Amino acid sequence: MQYRNLGKSGLKVSALSFGSWVTFHKQVDSKLAERMFGMCLDAGVNFFDNAEGYERGMSESVMGEALKSLGRSRDSYCVSSKVFFGANDNPLPTQMGLSRKHVTEACNQALQRLQVDYLDLYFCHRADPDTPIEETVWAMHNLITQGKILYWGTSEWTAEEIKEAYEFALANNLTPPTMEQPQYNLLDRQRFEVEYNPIFEKYKMGTTTWSPLASGALTGKYLEGVPDGSRASLKGYEWLRKHMIESDRGQERMNRVSKYIEITKKYNLDPTKLAIAWCLLNKNVSTVILGASDMTQLENNLKSLDYLKNFDDADLTEALRKV
Ligand SMILES: NC(=O)c1ccc[n+]([C@@H]2O[C@H](COP(=O)([O-])OP(=O)(O)OC[C@H]3O[C@@H](n4cnc5c(N)ncnc54)[C@H](OP(=O)(O)O)[C@@H]3O)[C@@H](O)[C@H]2O)c1
Repeated sequence: MQYRNLGKSGLKVSALSFGSWVTFHKQVDSKLAERMFGMCLDAGVNFFDNAEGYERGMSESVMGEALKSLGRSRDSYCVSSKVFFGANDNPLPTQMGLSRKHVTEACNQALQRLQVDYLDLYFCHRADPDTPIEETVWAMHNLITQGKILYWGTSEWTAEEIKEAYEFALANNLTPPTMEQPQYNLLDRQRFEVEYNPIFEKYKMGTTTWSPLASGALTGKYLEGVPDGSRASLKGYEWLRKHMIESDRGQERMNRVSKYIEITKKYNLDPTKLAIAWCLLNKNVSTVILGASDMTQLENNLKSLDYLKNFDDADLTEALRKV
């Protein structure tokens, strides 16, 4: 495993980490999660990602049970949660967003569900247009001083919003955000590579990037239809199937995936490992969060670092740039 500093913090996160969106509770129970964590930790993974909004908080409960029964020392791994969407289908106005109240309550609830005394990383899952950024910065700073979280960050905020939070924290001697959690993969590059450049340069933000396989699309498995049991086939995720495949946007992306799969065939490479390793070429990536619904996928994906050597081939790297 490689380890990278989370931005300019002293925290070293494993280049590959493991997340639970869609999978935990829906496809992965606590017994399987325990085996998955064992495999991850043995491979050197030290960060596990979660959120109040994943399966209405139940993803955190599965993770908490699994980590507890695995019994590894708390100082050997990091866990996260995220606040914004709320932990039930129809949250009340006080049960969602980034108000001081909800940020504080959601943290306390995540600690209970995850069965930990503190969160290593705590993210604002989206920006909240109805709450002043100052209030959220204060709420996060207070959670740090209370010892309930160690680092706070944002997810899918605009560069401008991150700048505002950072500058307010600096001007008031509060703790600024340490990391962003953006999507980043071969199909989704613009925000990470262009919009965020100033915040990387000025603030040295760390990043925990999501969906390295674009929800599985970059494995190539959706090119002949939607396989049974795959993410795009799941009940409750019809919106995702439309977004990934059936919409005009989805069709345009599937054409890009076809092009990508042709390249991997030409070089005789596994598209899954190549797509994951590709994310790590960018020095502003601190950790790539993997997703997997079974042990075989996880075992394969954890070997992606072996693929970094393929980028010594300038022709391959250039071909991928054009996907
Ligand atoms: N902050 C945010 O807004 C945000 C948003 C999304 C995700 N995230 C975080 O990022 C993590 C990773 O995102 P992600 O799950 O979307 O990652 P991903 O790598 O793009 O997709 C993972 C999914 O692809 C399929 N897959 C993975 N490996 C495979 C393989 N070897 N062969 C065939 N299929 C394979 C599996 O789905 P199936 O087997 O079900 O098809 C798996 O669950 C999440 O768990 C979450 O922690 C954050």
